[in-house]
Amino acid sequence: MVNIQKTAVIGCGFVGSTIAYTLMQRGIFSEMVLIDMNQEKAKGEAMDLSHGLPFTHAMDIYAGDYSDIRDASLIIITAGANQKEGETRLDLVHKNTKIMKSVIQNIKEAECEGILLVVSNPVDILTYVALKESGFPQNRVIGSGTVLDTARLKYLLGQHLKVDSRSVHAFIIGEHGDSELAVWSSANVSGIDLEHFEEIRGMKEEERPWSDIYREVRDSAYEIIERKGATYYGIGIAVARIAECIVRDSRAVLPVSVLLSGEYGLYDLCLSIPAVLGQNGAEQVLEIELDDSEKMQLEESAKEINKVLAEIMG
Ligand code: LAC
Repeated sequence: MVNIQKTAVIGCGFVGSTIAYTLMQRGIFSEMVLIDMNQEKAKGEAMDLSHGLPFTHAMDIYAGDYSDIRDASLIIITAGANQKEGETRLDLVHKNTKIMKSVIQNIKEAECEGILLVVSNPVDILTYVALKESGFPQNRVIGSGTVLDTARLKYLLGQHLKVDSRSVHAFIIGEHGDSELAVWSSANVSGIDLEHFEEIRGMKEEERPWSDIYREVRDSAYEIIERKGATYYGIGIAVARIAECIVRDSRAVLPVSVLLSGEYGLYDLCLSIPAVLGQNGAEQVLEIELDDSEKMQLEESAKEINKVLAEIMG
C-alpha cells in the first residue's frame, strides 16, 4: 500500500538536500526518508533538517535504505555525478546512466508502487533510462524537465514587463539543456499576448529583448555554476512544486519530462512537455499549439536527445 504522505529522496548532495529542506518547509509530507551511498551523510542531513521541525510542520525525517521506500508515494532521484573539468557531456551520460540503472534496480527490488521523479542530469535521458529499466507505466516515471527553465522564463519576463511572474503564462519545452525552446507563440500575461502587453506597459518594439531572455534562461545553469559551483535552490523549489501537485492531486499543468508516444509526431523518447500532474503522476501529456518555427525547434531538440539515446541504449 502506498502512503501518499511519504516521500524518499535518493542522493543527498546539494540538490537532494535542498529538495529535502524545501519539502520539509512545505508541510506536504509526514514522512521523508533520505538515502545516500554515504550513509553518514544522509544521517547528518536528516539530523540537521529534523532540528528545524519545531519551527515547521510535524513529520518524520530519517536516513534509511531502499527497504524504506516500499510504501513511498514519491521517489525523488537526484543521485549522479557532477560534470568535472575536462569531462565531456557524454562521459557524464555514461556515468550517470550506470548510476541510474543501479538505483532503479534497487527500487525494483523494493517492489515500490510510487511515482519516480528523476532530477539527475541529463534529466531527459535519465528519465528514459529510469522508465525502461523500471518497467513502470509511463505516467509513473517523470523528470523535473523544464519546470525550472519555465520558472526562469517567467521570472525574467516578469522583470521585463514589470509584472508579477505568476501572472506570466509561458513555457520552455524540449530538452532541459542547450536545445530547449521558448513557446513564444502562446506566451501571455493573464490572457493578453506578450506584444500587446508590452504596448500596454509603454514599451517600444525595439525594446523587445525576447531572444536575450531566451538565451539567459538557457544559459542560467552555466552562469550560476561558474559563479557558485552548482545550482540547487531553484531546482529545490521546482521539485517541491511538482511534489505538491502529485500529493494534492491538484492536476496542475507543468512541463515535466515524459515519454512521448506520437505527440508532436515524436516517439520513444523523453523530453519536457506540459502535462497534467496529479496523484497518478503525468495523467495526460498535452499537445499545445506551436508555430512552424517552434515545431522545427522541438524536432531539433528531439534529434539531440535521440543522438545520445542511440549511444547509450544501442
Ligand atoms: C539547473 C540544473 C538543475 O538547470 O540543471 O539549474
